[in-house]
Amino acid sequence: MPGPLFENRIVLITGAATGIGRASALAFAREGASLALVDIDTVQMEQTAKEAGELGAKTLCLQVDVAQVAQVQKMVSDTVSHFGRLDCAFNNAGVAGGILDLAQSTEENWDRVININLKSVWACMKYELQQMLTQGSGSIVNTASVLGLVGGPVSPAYTASKHGVIGLTKSAAIAYAPKGVRINAVCPGYIETPLIDKVMTANPEYRPQVIARHPIGRMGTAEEIAAAVLWLSSDSASFVTGLGLAADGGLTAQ
Ligand SMILES: NC(=O)c1ccc[n+]([C@@H]2O[C@H](COP(=O)([O-])OP(=O)(O)OC[C@H]3O[C@@H](n4cnc5c(N)ncnc54)[C@H](O)[C@@H]3O)[C@@H](O)[C@H]2O)c1
Repeated sequence: MPGPLFENRIVLITGAATGIGRASALAFAREGASLALVDIDTVQMEQTAKEAGELGAKTLCLQVDVAQVAQVQKMVSDTVSHFGRLDCAFNNAGVAGGILDLAQSTEENWDRVININLKSVWACMKYELQQMLTQGSGSIVNTASVLGLVGGPVSPAYTASKHGVIGLTKSAAIAYAPKGVRINAVCPGYIETPLIDKVMTANPEYRPQVIARHPIGRMGTAEEIAAAVLWLSSDSASFVTGLGLAADGGLTAQ
């Protein structure tokens, strides 16, 4: 009988406090992983750690703003000091940035969204790769979005940030494939999480429009995205690198 998929694996997850990050942390915990949980929200992150602990996982909580490069560098070194290595990284923290008309949007909003959603992924990969290259192995999954694959007329900075995540993912995948590190992105459709709840509460008319964009007739769950992340991170995907995997109820098939 083979053991759990991530037995003896050290997995780092950013944005682990809620939503897709929390669901992924719990799914990795069920598969035997030890977890470095990263977020700015320590209260919800501790709750994720508690639930993962109940599933048998060893956890380390790190309060980090992923838009701050020095904090990201320390995040990786703290993880390696604590667990000794880093096998998988899920660079997932992000913000929605609001529903905005480009012509009316501000430089402040652009900088915030690009820094948290895109610069952070560059910074995370930079330091994760330094560690993975010393090991000669590793797997990285970045959270993009369907808005990394198609245009988003009411969220220009968000859409640009997620297209950027896919470009970074592909570029790094090609560069590091010969060195034993696989790098992929997951591109969720609209998923029921606190991030999307905030957008829907501010713009209630948006919900039926969003649901109608998915041929499957509903929004997705965080657990459905976690399943894609686990597969991309696992040895089952050993020949998969540079992929932007849409888990989107058919949205981008149209
Ligand atoms: N929910 C969706 O419909 C959807 C669709 C496509 C992509 N995504 C992406 O999925 C990822 C996770 O989002 P979610 O939907 O689970 O939302 P969420 O709000 O539940 O989770 C995002 C997490 O990131 C954390 N975070 C935000 N800024 C941070 C920072 N600067 N440093 C560290 N942590 C920070 C938040 O505290 C939160 O825990 C995001 O990158 C988001 O863009 C979400």
